[in-house]
Amino acid sequence: MKKNFIQIKKVSKIYKNKFAALKNVDLNIQEGEIFALLGPNGAGKSTLINVLCGITYHSKGDIFIDGIDLTKNRKKIKSLIGLVPQELHLEAFETVFDNVNYSRGLWGKKKDNNYILNLLKKLNLDDKKNNLLMQLSGGMKRRVLIAKALSHNPRILFLDEPSAGVDIELRKEMWDIIYTLKKEGVTIILTTHYIEEAEEIADRVAFINNGEIILVEDKNVLLNKLGNNKLVFTLDNSFKKVPAVLNKYSYKISKNKSCIEFFLSKEKNEVSDILLSIKKSKMDYLDFNIEKRSLESIFVDFIKKEKK
Ligand SMILES: Nc1ncnc2c1ncn2[C@@H]1O[C@H](COP(=O)(O)OP(=O)(O)OP(=O)(O)O)[C@@H](O)[C@H]1O
Ligand SMILES: [Mg+2]
Repeated sequence: MKKNFIQIKKVSKIYKNKFAALKNVDLNIQEGEIFALLGPNGAGKSTLINVLCGITYHSKGDIFIDGIDLTKNRKKIKSLIGLVPQELHLEAFETVFDNVNYSRGLWGKKKDNNYILNLLKKLNLDDKKNNLLMQLSGGMKRRVLIAKALSHNPRILFLDEPSAGVDIELRKEMWDIIYTLKKEGVTIILTTHYIEEAEEIADRVAFINNGEIILVEDKNVLLNKLGNNKLVFTLDNSFKKVPAVLNKYSYKISKNKSCIEFFLSKEKNEVSDILLSIKKSKMDYLDFNIEKRSLESIFVDFIKKEKK
């Protein structure tokens, strides 16, 4: 595994109409990781991916992939990369096999029917290999796009919104494909609107907003650091005051006194300790549960802070 396999240094992208879609982006991606870019519509996710794939040019900054300077050797870098684009554009009247095979040819790679057949098998497309692309469902078309992106054995795969318009079953299938590729050593960078997707599969996540990277973190560290859980008690009408024994904990009472929330810091026995103290204090409650903070709520908080 190479550290800083992809190095993005102070990269800006200003489109012809003067719109700054990326501002001073600094980011390093490690070889073999699954990296998720999260951000609202128009944040700059596709722009960043398109810049890295050489589809559009950045205006400022430096990009190195496997030590190669992107501006100096685009051709070499392009051969390392596969891209599954956000838009579904496919030729209607070609067969699945010919289309994927043709993509491989475009990269100047030697014909390898077995490689293509195996790829189609891996993507559950082997029974459709002789179908015309227009005869496929949306999810199948997306898998053809993945096959095309992988047709020349790239070391890096970019997936721009792989789950858009895909049902949950197929999404899970897609995750399996991504895990398999990771095992084979492929570096995977994906953008997604489905935060639970990033929560499920990513090793690291970056939040991007208005063309700026606002946070890059190991997913588990992020969930631990910012995603503290809460122990929430629903109170009954008789509740008046928090018993003094509970003051050693960090808590918050809702305005209408309908619930009390204890913030958990992941210390051992914390939950049972609070429960015991409450029992001792004889405080009445109707119910309790543990609320887990998800990546989604962390992300929403971040975007809110950014807007302030
Ligand atoms: N060719 C272009 N010329 C001018 N502005 C552009 C161009 N392409 C994109 N933009 C602008 O750059 C910003 C970022 O667009 P981008 O497609 O990278 O966003 P995104 O994060 O991928 O959004 P989405 O989640 O909707 O796919 C947007 O404001 C968009 O309007
Ligand atoms: Mg996009």
